[in-house]
Formats: sequence, C-alpha cells, structure tokens
Amino acid sequence: MSIDPDKLEKIPRHVALIMDGNGRWAQERGLSRLEGHKEGAQSVRAVLRAAARAGVEFITVYAFSTENWKRPPQEIDGLMKLLIGSLNAYEQELHDNKIRLRVMGQFERLPLPVRLRLQKTIDATADYTNHTFIIALSYGSRTEIADAAKQIAKKVKAGELNPAKIDEQTITDHLYLPDVPDPELMIRTSGELRLSNFLLWQLSYSEFYITDTFWPDFREEQFYEALEAFNHRDRRYGGVKKK
Ligand code: FPP
Repeated sequence: MSIDPDKLEKIPRHVALIMDGNGRWAQERGLSRLEGHKEGAQSVRAVLRAAARAGVEFITVYAFSTENWKRPPQEIDGLMKLLIGSLNAYEQELHDNKIRLRVMGQFERLPLPVRLRLQKTIDATADYTNHTFIIALSYGSRTEIADAAKQIAKKVKAGELNPAKIDEQTITDHLYLPDVPDPELMIRTSGELRLSNFLLWQLSYSEFYITDTFWPDFREEQFYEALEAFNHRDRRYGGVKKK
C-alpha cells in the first residue's frame, strides 16, 4: 500500500541518512561495487524528490566518511567521478525544486575537480531557501567536534570568549553548519546498528529508523515508510509523556 505524505501529521524538518549496503546490493547481483554506488546515486535522487514533495526542509546524506579514504584507490576514484556525474544529472532538479546544495566535511581534502564542480552548484543554488541538500563528504563527527574545540580554544586564548560562558550552544555554533537545525530523524539502510561517526552531536535527540533494505533499493516509497514510522514515535526529550 502506498503512503500519501500529505496525510502524515508530522513531517521532520531535517532527515539525515546513512546510505549503507551499496556493495552488498552489487555483490548479490554479481556486479562491481561501483555499480552498487551508481544505483545508490539514483536513490539519492529519489529521496530528494520525495523529501521535496513531503515538505522536508533539510536532507543530509553521508556520502563519504573520513574513514572511506582507506578504501581501494579505484573505488575512491569511482565514487568521486560518480559524484561529479550525479551533480550534472541532478542540477536541473535542484533548480526546479529550489533546493540549495551545501557540503559538510573536509572540503579541501577532496580532489580539485570535485571541489570545483561542487562549488559551481553551491554558488548557483545559494539563494534557495525552500529545501537544503547537504552532502557529508570526507566527514567525520569526531573531527568536526575536535575542530570546534580548537576554534573555541583560540577564541579563549585571544580573550574573545570567557571559558565560564561555554555551553552547548557554543559547541553548536562552531560546528561545520551551525545554522542547520538538528535532524529529527536519522535513517540507516542495510540493517547495521551503528552511527559510524556521523553527526554525533546533532543526533543526540533524533529518532533512529533502521531498515534492512540496501541503499540502492531505498526509494520514494521506502522514504515515506520511514516518515510514517516517525509519526508513530513519541518524542519526549527526556521529559515525561504528556497525557
Ligand atoms: C556505503 O555502501 C555507501 C557509500 C560509502 C557511498 C555512498 C555514495 C553514493 C550513494 C554515491 C552518490 C552520492 C551522492 C551524494 C550523489 P557500502 O559500499 O559501504 O556498502 P557495503 O557495506 O554493502 O559494502
């Protein structure tokens, strides 16, 4: 039975996704890992479309972690080329749906052609406010938090910040995208029960939705199923249930 997102009572403002299982999807079909990633890129497109339709404002996808640099150079190269190809393929859709592209992670570590291609679309979509598509690239949450700590320490040393005044908001303000609200929902595909160094600070109060579906099979319908599951959750933020 298909789910109509217009009938859902609550729509999360921000959904974060760990896109796992491309390799296993490919392996099951006797295909190369890269074929799995290519099919996965189609799922990214499907989720963007579904999120825009449902009214989700922010989508963050974990496309490449700091740990992913340890993969074989051929796979890394294939993923970087796929990223460029995907941006070419999505560009029109980003404009049609007024989706702003942003990137979080160690941007300077990415190959120059990837940086240039990303920057072009980041600049071209910078004024859109309806939706934001965030790609986490060369991203690691512990590095992000350590970088924030470094910046805060510098400000303290320069006398710009009183250490006694450091609170949760100070940390948030020094993360990569301080203006983006925390995700209310985190989706992980392919059944793994791990956070894998993804948005550790930002996901503190998020609902987790784990599905056995491999990422290349996660499309509009599966995204709406996750939104529906979110609607059945009772979010209390450590408080007590309201009667
Ligand atoms: C995890 O599957 C997936 C990745 C490391 C890459 C995800 C990248 C894409 C879907 C490419 C397109 C992205 C954008 C933003 C256009 P895995 O290889 O770890 O799968 P496995 O655990 O089954 O081996």
